[in-house]
Amino acid sequence: MSGKTFYIETFGCQMNAHDSEKVVGTLLAEGYEQVPTPEQAELVLYNTCSIRDKAEQKVFSRLQNFKREAGKGKVFGVLGCVAQQEGEKIFDRAPHVSLVAGSASYTRLGEMLVQLENGNRRVTGLSLDTEETFDTPFTRRDNPHRAYITIIEGCDKSCAYCVVPFTRGPERSRTSASVMAEARGLAGRGYTEIQLLGQNVNSYRDPSPAGWDFATLLANVAEVPGIRRVRYTTSHPRDFGKSIVDAMEANPVICDHVHLPVQSGSSRVLASMDRLYTRDEYMRRIEWLKTARRPYSITTDIIVGFPGETESDFAQTLDLLDEVQYDSLFSFKYSPRPNTAALAMQDPIPDDEKQRRLSVLQEKQRAIQIRRNAEMIGAIKEVLVEGRNQALGQWIGRTSDNRTLNFTHPASNGHSLIGQYLSVRVTRSGPNSLVGEAI
Ligand code: 5AD
Ligand code: SF4
Repeated sequence: MSGKTFYIETFGCQMNAHDSEKVVGTLLAEGYEQVPTPEQAELVLYNTCSIRDKAEQKVFSRLQNFKREAGKGKVFGVLGCVAQQEGEKIFDRAPHVSLVAGSASYTRLGEMLVQLENGNRRVTGLSLDTEETFDTPFTRRDNPHRAYITIIEGCDKSCAYCVVPFTRGPERSRTSASVMAEARGLAGRGYTEIQLLGQNVNSYRDPSPAGWDFATLLANVAEVPGIRRVRYTTSHPRDFGKSIVDAMEANPVICDHVHLPVQSGSSRVLASMDRLYTRDEYMRRIEWLKTARRPYSITTDIIVGFPGETESDFAQTLDLLDEVQYDSLFSFKYSPRPNTAALAMQDPIPDDEKQRRLSVLQEKQRAIQIRRNAEMIGAIKEVLVEGRNQALGQWIGRTSDNRTLNFTHPASNGHSLIGQYLSVRVTRSGPNSLVGEAI
């Protein structure tokens, strides 16, 4: 490789998005230049997701498109969860790939790049045996106002459907001192919103003698001068302790939103998923939030059609939606994944039945959101301005409770409001967003 140009495309969750920010920063620091299309790049990287089969297929279709380019000196790398899951099998399936590395190996990225530059066409980073997290001073952040900070990597749970423990390895927490230093550094560079990331942030455990738990870390990050909003994702209900709600109640800098993936409303299905909580135990956490002083927006993830899910189990999930009144949810058809425990379970629910359940669920949730969003009309909410919709003449804002609130601002006269915090009166609502006017 001569001019050292690279292109990267990212799939999957926020952890992956942030990993890519760190990978990009590392490449830039090594003298590479980022280009906007794979055609222009000498090194083409895909940071992949394998959470469901569909996500996994995407990278192989991308690689297929470029099969012929490999002979012309283009180098291809597969990073992330598909890389970790499929390992060297990727070389068989897509022989023009030269680099296969999972996230637990990114601390060796510089070394792997040197191997590629030296012409090695079978470079791998596949060990999960690490105590380290991937920290780098070179992170190239995509957003100038909101920054991700990884606090914990990997996952020690063993949910029966989930590949993540196999693709991201065991849990490793960063020291509280390094997280706090990063948060203060970000505030100093003008960032006002911080999002703490981990597969299971609630099981954060400071490895240094300070020994902070997640609630303590959250409270301290929210105290950093200049930081106006702190979010975190994702939570495992079992480890979501009352102390987290107490920390949120104590400081409104911590946003009015909790994403608490439930997966199913049936305790029987939850047990077979190995989720480590019952519906009642989940509802206890919801009660903490519903009886708190501030109103919190609650969102979730749901899987329909898990092996053995009966019509009555599914009815309990629908009933849970009525009971909790989520403000938004992500819902998925169960997708069998390699290595997972559920693979050995009978999966007799045909795809069209999974699809039917998904549609019923989504329709129910849509009605809930229409009603809940309509209740916001007339309210005044603070937004962080994230963008501009030129066609509609609206600014795009996000509320603390994680709603999109698009608004007009008569006095803005064309100058950018992006990055500002403004008060907006809600005038209209839809199933997925609100509309309003700046006041
Ligand atoms: N099939 C379908 N959905 C899944 N999820 C995780 N694994 C699977 C799977 N095998 C969903 C869960 C999780 C979200 C990130 O993806 O709902 O919370
Ligand atoms: Fe996809 Fe899960 Fe990997 Fe994130 S951790 S990229 S959701 S498989």
